Amino acid sequence: MSPQDLIRKKRDGKRFTPAEIDAFVQGVCDGTWADYQTSALLMAMFVNGLNLAEQNALTSAMLASGEHFDFSELDAPVADKHSTGGVGDKTSLLIAPMVAACGVYVPMISGRGLGYTGGTLDKLESISGYNVRLSKSEFKKTLKKCGFALAGQTENIVPADKKLYALRDATATVESIPLIVASIMSKKLAEGLDALVLDVKTGSGAFMQSERDVRRLARALVKTGNAFDVKTEAVISDMNQPLGQYVGNALEVFECLKLLRNDAEAQTKPTLDLSIELAARILILCGVADTIESSNLKIQNVLASGEALEKFRQNIELQGGDAKICDDPEVLLDKHLLKIKIKSPASGYISKIDAGEIGRAISAIGGGRVKVEDQIDCAVGYACEKKLGDAVAEHETLGTLFCRSEAQAAKVLAKLQMAYKIGDEKSPKPKLIKEIIK
Ligand code: URA
Repeated sequence: MSPQDLIRKKRDGKRFTPAEIDAFVQGVCDGTWADYQTSALLMAMFVNGLNLAEQNALTSAMLASGEHFDFSELDAPVADKHSTGGVGDKTSLLIAPMVAACGVYVPMISGRGLGYTGGTLDKLESISGYNVRLSKSEFKKTLKKCGFALAGQTENIVPADKKLYALRDATATVESIPLIVASIMSKKLAEGLDALVLDVKTGSGAFMQSERDVRRLARALVKTGNAFDVKTEAVISDMNQPLGQYVGNALEVFECLKLLRNDAEAQTKPTLDLSIELAARILILCGVADTIESSNLKIQNVLASGEALEKFRQNIELQGGDAKICDDPEVLLDKHLLKIKIKSPASGYISKIDAGEIGRAISAIGGGRVKVEDQIDCAVGYACEKKLGDAVAEHETLGTLFCRSEAQAAKVLAKLQMAYKIGDEKSPKPKLIKEIIK
């Protein structure tokens, strides 16, 4: 069928066969489809939707567009976690060493931050010397040696997604559940996993904000994962405030190291709680633990014994980074930064936090990117002091900005202050874990 026939078919609300979806993805990858034809079909898919069979066929065709990992020779299960992204979301840095210390391999192919959400690769690059550009064989070698490897996507993994995502971004067709599922799951399935836990975020700092849409996305992701024989679950988690204490690349690595060293401050607790929940679910899906209680305990044990910290140290050494941060996390912090306190304009209770606005403020001073090619400043960031439901007095500190200059501070101070709403009544703290989708 020609591109015009396929566009017409979806424009008229009809269903595609797997062969037709294969022809589309093939045409996108070999250049026989023009960008305007691909964009027209993406818009028809966006408007008229794809059913589950089409969603799975698109995932399969995209997966087949590149190379896959095969870890079948490994002597233990292989699993990963994927997050839809948030502000201060640093759980990968804890989950990988904790799960590896419990005997499950974690081949984590991660992304860079774009817009106001952070990316694991950028966080890791705040560790001096850490190399996220591993070849396929270096990635495998690291995984075998220390139980986890963290690297960026190569050109050869799901090349169809690169092309399709760029066109979706340019044609306002990103927010389609089947297109999101095919994009995320094709990349995760290329990792050759036995199990996958998805952290699907909802709230002011999430890329999809409505809880109803988030639930639909989580269900669709889980259905497709399981259809490909990867045991998949989703955790719907709260992103109505930054996760844990810090936002900003080096600061987030610092928070994770403090947690791995069991000497973190109280504000970091949500980071640990969510990481343990996600890691515990991975262990259960992999058959390494039977119940959520026993799984939690296993993870608490590898944290308390320092085994998870040792896994992280081993990984940093294998990936060329400076492992001294495991003994002295302060090395990560740039002593030259200005620390500016953000003060509450009124007394009351924190009733709302626009986490997205905090993420955008940090991006605006160099902590994140607006365009893919932007350079970032790993050191800048924000420390959250007051969280939802906390009481606050007028002029009390809401959080601390870590920045390079007074001019940078002036650019974002009002934005940061306005990200908080102070009410008269104490509202309940949001539940961190909202729902588990199996
Ligand atoms: N993240 C992805 O990888 N793909 C999407 O389509 C949306 C978010």
